[in-house]
Amino acid sequence: MKKDFWKNKTVIITGATSGLGKEMTKILLEKGAKVVAISRSEESLKGLQNELIKFSKNLFLIKADVSFKKDCEDAFKTIKDELKTADFLINNAGVGLRCEVEEIDELDIKKVFDINFFGAFYMMKHAIAFFKEQGGGTIVNICSLGVKRPVPFTSGYTASKAALSSLADVARIELKKYNITILNAYPGSISTSFRKNALGKPYPEDEVRLSRLSPDVAARRIIRGIEKNRKEIYTSKKDYLFVLFTRLFPHVSDFIVEKAFEKKLKRL
Ligand SMILES: NC(=O)c1ccc[n+]([C@@H]2O[C@H](COP(=O)([O-])OP(=O)(O)OC[C@H]3O[C@@H](n4cnc5c(N)ncnc54)[C@H](OP(=O)(O)O)[C@@H]3O)[C@@H](O)[C@H]2O)c1
Repeated sequence: MKKDFWKNKTVIITGATSGLGKEMTKILLEKGAKVVAISRSEESLKGLQNELIKFSKNLFLIKADVSFKKDCEDAFKTIKDELKTADFLINNAGVGLRCEVEEIDELDIKKVFDINFFGAFYMMKHAIAFFKEQGGGTIVNICSLGVKRPVPFTSGYTASKAALSSLADVARIELKKYNITILNAYPGSISTSFRKNALGKPYPEDEVRLSRLSPDVAARRIIRGIEKNRKEIYTSKKDYLFVLFTRLFPHVSDFIVEKAFEKKLKRL
């Protein structure tokens, strides 16, 4: 891998103030990139700036709620005016929803789609126009392992990420001729505030999962996947093998998941 891959590249990251987005921001700044950090809260953006003060020359902050089309439009206008070019968009902002299908609140699932799907879609549309003008660029969508191996109680959240993943898979083919690359990441469980911030029912302490990574490890593996131009990025070998196993033996995979969640399903 080229040592200076990220040097002087401009990376736009949504949801950059917490968890995975914050770690990716730190690592990319360390690697010499310029980062445009986007989140809804001015306070958390200022917190990020203070924490990363030594990189202040390369860190740009934009307050925007990606679920609002106008905020995304304004964010790109600012980026164009102030930075002129950009190389990567990482659609990372997202929110969880934990609830069995029949009890999902309609407002909750709409909110989740507004952020996870429409937010990424608005950002992607602006990035495509921008990247076309400048002759290329890369869009990375942070989806979820659940898209590849769905598990109980996450239907609404997984549906929003599956919609994003499918949109991106089609965009990849359409945009190749414009030198625009589309990559999707499918992270497994990561120790962030994601569960605390999720809508629906609280996550239990004894949540069933394959593994749980630190945000630093997950961020490094995603960044490595981007450097290697992987169209599907996984954050652990175990996750990748389980996805492969699910493709080959879908019924056995379902049986394993049912067994793992059996006690919890009975409790409902
Ligand atoms: N943690 C996991 O186990 C896991 C697993 C698979 C995939 N993922 C995905 O990874 C991504 C990052 O999640 P995380 O675990 O780092 O969660 P997190 O710690 O809750 O961080 C979410 C980030 O998104 C921002 N955000 C939320 N809604 C936004 C909006 N409407 N507009 C702009 N920014 C918004 C938040 O900042 P503000 O609230 O200040 O706006 C925050 O910076 C998400 O897409 C998530 O679905 C997470």
